[in-house]
Amino acid sequence: MTDRSDAPGGGAAYRVHLCLGPNCTARGSRALLPLLEAAVARAGLGGRVEVLATTCRDRCDYGPSMNVYPGPVFYNLLDEGALEEIVARHLAGGEVADEWLFRPKPARTKPAGRSRVP
Ligand code: FES
Repeated sequence: MTDRSDAPGGGAAYRVHLCLGPNCTARGSRALLPLLEAAVARAGLGGRVEVLATTCRDRCDYGPSMNVYPGPVFYNLLDEGALEEIVARHLAGGEVADEWLFRPKPARTKPAGRSRVP
């Protein structure tokens, strides 16, 4: 059985989860929420896009974080300009705005060939 809890409802095409968890809030996500809602409204997408404030998206080092469903498509390091682009290109145009896609930092590995010989 498929979990449809993140599927948009009521005829909406997209559901957007903007993180208002503690780390994203410290990085400005609370101020982004009304800007996102306004950008969606200006684009005439109010009936097609649901915007929800959510808890931690588990990508705190890359906040502000946002998930777009269907997908999910993970967006990170957001600011007002990023939201404008994502609304125009993804939510209105159906194209992923790849500049803000979540890209985890490479894991740290021990350099090869080094030892701790005194
Ligand atoms: S607080 Fe936003 S991803 Fe963790």
